[in-house]
Amino acid sequence: MAAELKPPRAVTEPPVFLRACRREAVPYTPVWIMRQAGRYLPEYRELRSKVDFVQLTRSAQLAAEVTLQPVRRFPLDAAILFSDIMTPLQGMGIELEFNPGPVVREPIRTAKQVEALPALVPTRDVPFVLEAVKLVRQNLPHGVPLIGFAGAPFTLLCYLVCGRPSKEFGPARSFLYSQPQAAEHLIDVLGDAMGAYLRAQAEAGAQALMVFESWAGLLAPREFRRFALRGAKRVLAGLKGLDVPLIYYANDGAAVMGEIASLEVDVVGVDWRTPLSVARRALGPAKALQGNLDPAALFAPAAELQAAIDAVLAEAGPGPGHIFNLGHGIWPETDPDAVARLIDHVHTQSARGVKASS
Ligand code: CP3
Repeated sequence: MAAELKPPRAVTEPPVFLRACRREAVPYTPVWIMRQAGRYLPEYRELRSKVDFVQLTRSAQLAAEVTLQPVRRFPLDAAILFSDIMTPLQGMGIELEFNPGPVVREPIRTAKQVEALPALVPTRDVPFVLEAVKLVRQNLPHGVPLIGFAGAPFTLLCYLVCGRPSKEFGPARSFLYSQPQAAEHLIDVLGDAMGAYLRAQAEAGAQALMVFESWAGLLAPREFRRFALRGAKRVLAGLKGLDVPLIYYANDGAAVMGEIASLEVDVVGVDWRTPLSVARRALGPAKALQGNLDPAALFAPAAELQAAIDAVLAEAGPGPGHIFNLGHGIWPETDPDAVARLIDHVHTQSARGVKASS
């Protein structure tokens, strides 16, 4: 009788995504899509036509619902919390609107403004995010873990100082040179805040944590070390002792991959410009890779999309430690059927590869 009480193997085994993050052998390559909860989905647009974006992020019920939308539609291997990198900053009293990117009412340009920033207390300042994490966990199947996330301090600085999305983020980059001490202080304040924020998400139930350095490509290695790496390390210092995989994503990060190698994370997210084999050489064998199909490839005819996916799988190599993803967020114009075909092809093709090599 005792044997009957044992849960089936599938229930006790960690999900494939989490095993791949730890570079363990997996039966197929797990896949999820950056920005998978969002505007390319008709069910998201439907809800969004009735509810403002900020309201979606501040309602635990609605944020949980939008997080689950792509998971209901596709056999994804992970969910990512629906929120925004700017949400915790609103919790720290920064006034902003989304149009559609974040626009800050009073951009930060002085040391005095940096000093006035309060610490983030997640349970007090963003309780709805933690509540959304709990709700999502209650509704996700065991095999689909939830990723919590935050913006990296330098990327947040870009929006806070420039005040709006931009190609060059001129005011933010000149701030690094004109007021380096204030910039370092801002990086440290944001690093502590995002460390506390991610820790709170893990404590609420997030099973992996991802840090988005979306503007890594703006910096030369020297400035990347001084500001971006400093901030990322400060975030990671706040996560010591947590038993969840940590993912660092650097958009346009080829020139700074050697610097990224020094980060104590389990996984590095790679943009589509950097071949995974090149990232692997720069990072060494101790990190898993996540990526990196060009989001534009989803507009290719079916056979061409498959060939592009096969090329990414081949670049990742036969060893463990690859999570398939796009190289940056999915475009709002993408056909959801192309996403279905992508996920199916990654799963079947990688499972075949495993069989062939064993
Ligand atoms: O599915 C998911 O990935 C979860 C949700 C998510 C959003 N933003 C929702 C969102 C995540 C992980 C983010 C992170 C984010 N936000 C980043 C880092 C990732 C990246 O793409 O580099 C950045 C730089 C932002 C800032 C931001 N927020 C921008 C530039 C924009 C507008 C343009 C865009 O890509 O959508 C937003 C708004 C935003 N964040 C939307 C969504 C679904 C669109 C808002 C709407 O519905 O009108």
